[in-house]
Amino acid sequence: MSSKVLITGIAGLLGSNFSRYLLTQGYEVIGIDDFSGGYKENLAKGVHCENINLANLGAVDHFFRTEKPDYVYHFAAYAAEGLSPFIRQYNYTNNLICSTNLITSSIKYDVKKFIFTSSMAVYGRENPPPFVETMQPHPLDPYGVAKYAVEMDLKLAHEQFGLHYTIIRPHNIVGCYQNIWDRYRNVIGIWIRKSINREPLCIYGDGLQTRAFSDVQYYFKPFEKVMFEGDGEIFNLGADQERTLLSAAQLVQKCAKNFGFNPDIIHLEPRHEAKFAFCNHDKAKKMLEFKDNTDLEVTINKMFEWALTQPNREVKTIEYELTKNIYSFWK
Ligand SMILES: NC(=O)c1ccc[n+]([C@@H]2O[C@H](COP(=O)([O-])OP(=O)(O)OC[C@H]3O[C@@H](n4cnc5c(N)ncnc54)[C@H](O)[C@@H]3O)[C@@H](O)[C@H]2O)c1
Repeated sequence: MSSKVLITGIAGLLGSNFSRYLLTQGYEVIGIDDFSGGYKENLAKGVHCENINLANLGAVDHFFRTEKPDYVYHFAAYAAEGLSPFIRQYNYTNNLICSTNLITSSIKYDVKKFIFTSSMAVYGRENPPPFVETMQPHPLDPYGVAKYAVEMDLKLAHEQFGLHYTIIRPHNIVGCYQNIWDRYRNVIGIWIRKSINREPLCIYGDGLQTRAFSDVQYYFKPFEKVMFEGDGEIFNLGADQERTLLSAAQLVQKCAKNFGFNPDIIHLEPRHEAKFAFCNHDKAKKMLEFKDNTDLEVTINKMFEWALTQPNREVKTIEYELTKNIYSFWK
């Protein structure tokens, strides 16, 4: 009998793509999503997904009691790192409380392994890049704090209850099914939407901050592998090749032209963020045979093709809990 795998956030970028991969590998895949950030149209055909907000412990408990998943991939989150200081309650509810609710149910219903997508955000600004898994985390915003808190809670859940887990710290993933209509996150996706809507591509600050973007497809194999390996381990996953945001914007500009768009690039006020953020992936390469073959231009062209088949969805503004010192571009 094949393993039953639960993916939370299954309507999002990682969830919708990885669920398709697992189905081709013969796993039984079930999902939870509240569609706050992902879309029903993203779900793989035939996949059973329940509309549950993970903040509701009773609903999560009922789901586990009924479905009895063997493995849990916890992808659901609201990953708007830069916005997180202005939506602290929403951030900690979605990224911390939802996670601890899942951990509670995973302990209670004897899940074989819990795989958690943390983030490069845990490293913060104190650590010099490239970040290595052995560095002491120093998150610089509530999103990073929430991710690090879940990492620590998993360690405790293992020590006290024997819950097996692996932590993945991904960064800057791109691909189809990304929510390109979110005003606050996923810079490449935002630029693709802006290009299609004939708006300029905005860069916060001088654009010389560096990031390393990787295509979601290179995550599938290592993600599958950690179902059975890397117990109690932490792995960075993502591209080795960092580039400036300015050069990434210029690449989007170049790809946009293939589809008849010609966006300008404009610079806005800088944000509170790490200037240089990229990771070392030696551990994942060695232990999980991870190989990133991202050609960002190919990925961006593929995303444009996909985006042009999508409805022009509404771009929503979230209700801020705090507006003090909020950036002018989010007012
Ligand atoms: N995309 C990246 O570059 C990146 C980088 C580092 C870490 N991560 C982490 O990887 C995971 C997946 O990222 P993604 O890009 O696929 O995100 P995504 O926003 O595309 O998908 C997240 C999904 O979770 C769902 N969700 C959010 N809150 C929920 C709740 N309370 N209850 C139920 N469902 C809820 C959303 O509706 C969405 O479908 C996240 O945990 C994120 O923090 C992503």
